[in-house]
Amino acid sequence: MALQFILDHGKEVPFFCYHPEMSIPANCRQCMVKSGQYMKDDDSGEYELDENGERKIRWMPKMQTSCSLKLQDGMVIKTQETSEEAERAQKDNLEFILINHPLDCPICDQAGECPLQIQTYKYGPEGSRFEVKKVHKPKRVELGPRVTLDAERCINCTRCVRFADEISESHQLTIVSRGDKNYPMTAPGKEFDDPYSINTVDICPVGALTSTDFRFKARVWEMNQTPSIDVTNGKGCNIDLWTRDNQVLRITPRHNEAVNGHWMPDVGRKAYERFNDNRASRPAIKLDGSNQSKTSWNNAIETFAETIEAHSGDELLVIGSPHASVEENYAFNKFFNLLGAPNATFTTHIMEDAGDDFLITDDQAPNTNGCRLLNLDEVTSDELSTAVSKAKVVLILADDLVGREVLSASALNDPYVVSLTTNMTVTANASDLVIPTTCVAEHAASYVNVDGRIQRSYPAKETKYTNRRLNLEMSEGRLDRYGTNFDNWVSEEHKTDCLPLWKFLDKLSDRLGLEFELQHSRDILDEISTQFSILENISYEVMDRNQGIQLPLDDKQVKQK
Ligand code: SF4
Ligand code: FES
Repeated sequence: MALQFILDHGKEVPFFCYHPEMSIPANCRQCMVKSGQYMKDDDSGEYELDENGERKIRWMPKMQTSCSLKLQDGMVIKTQETSEEAERAQKDNLEFILINHPLDCPICDQAGECPLQIQTYKYGPEGSRFEVKKVHKPKRVELGPRVTLDAERCINCTRCVRFADEISESHQLTIVSRGDKNYPMTAPGKEFDDPYSINTVDICPVGALTSTDFRFKARVWEMNQTPSIDVTNGKGCNIDLWTRDNQVLRITPRHNEAVNGHWMPDVGRKAYERFNDNRASRPAIKLDGSNQSKTSWNNAIETFAETIEAHSGDELLVIGSPHASVEENYAFNKFFNLLGAPNATFTTHIMEDAGDDFLITDDQAPNTNGCRLLNLDEVTSDELSTAVSKAKVVLILADDLVGREVLSASALNDPYVVSLTTNMTVTANASDLVIPTTCVAEHAASYVNVDGRIQRSYPAKETKYTNRRLNLEMSEGRLDRYGTNFDNWVSEEHKTDCLPLWKFLDKLSDRLGLEFELQHSRDILDEISTQFSILENISYEVMDRNQGIQLPLDDKQVKQK
């Protein structure tokens, strides 16, 4: 279609109802352009020329909506940049759209990222000639548990309805009522509880649909936007983390045609809570056999080192995690292999029938295939319980094995248990020593999804030991760039006292006199790429250029839902 062609070539035409992944109703009428056809002589088939030798053009008598205009040989298109008529048509259309649209941008959640606001500034009329009272419609309607509608702002583009019909296929929305009274709604007594419902908030071109959870929490220009990977299931949807005051406030999908298109499941958006709350912050140790108390990093390292020195390698059980990154699993395994421990094990986190045929997988972990690629030993729950019962020291990497019922709570009673963890899970609370580690929102690391695609995260939140202004991998928001120091607030209480796993292991290796020497996830990925042929030539730069790399799966890295 002409509109997509124009956009693909770096030109702009304002539009609202068009979406590249959905059908084209051409109902907003905003994308109007002037179109015509070079004239050809019927007999000779040659182009007809005017008195200046230029090809003659037969213009269509009226403006055309470019989103529904099929491209043809010899077609000529003038946009608002080259045609005053197209510019006028777009301006008049915006005046119509704004007749009943409330001018409440100062209190609207969409302000700052609103196509209607942006396009009105760029292409809209200077004022409105309509002096009639605006139509009033329902406000603050909870369409479902996660989406709130302000019907007065709706411009009836039907993107939300088409999403529910064509993408998530829940068919839960329709347009009700007539004329200037219409707006989207569910069937009487029904909720919009589609597991992908918040995608309609992303694609609503005005502030009519808002996320019930995020609304009124922040203005978009106050936040930093950092690319990342959804770690709540095995699909690895590409996402953006939106942070302010060092807290992740919302998660939105990032377009990747090879993984998630423009969409993500609602459940993945909730993950921001685990990046902010219930974090393991500052090491903790059990002193009296039951209650943990916070301790210093020096004491944690000393206690860890003394525990290891008191045991032989084969008394250690090293448990890797499909919830941790490739780099963390590799570093964890390598470190304890240097101490003579057997190869690390891991258990998958697969919940039968939890997935669907779209973006939710049975696999609840983001890196099961990463553990397999690294040749960690995949064991069942029973096998792991047996191994734990035989071990003297159990080292658990970022996996709530008790919380997800792989191990019973009593299984951790006898061995000395060290949890290297991002959150205070049931397992972490039952451990003798807790080492707080950075989460996906705080480090650069890679994950291999259920389809065998390796993708990476970027640091979005500062820890006690990092600083956005000094860390070039961290994104900057508008306030970082243009605000005052007062604007760039990062409250100390929002900084987690944790270390990247590799940094902690490096400190521990200094105490133990080991040659570990992996201080950054980039060092680790470099080393991995020389040791595993499947990951040869993989680097963050290669992943960045290609939005992740599809790895060839073999029988061992079985593809699963
Ligand atoms: S609520 Fe938003 S997406 Fe739905 S029809 Fe109205 S303007 Fe379009
Ligand atoms: S985008 Fe073309 S008519 Fe709406």
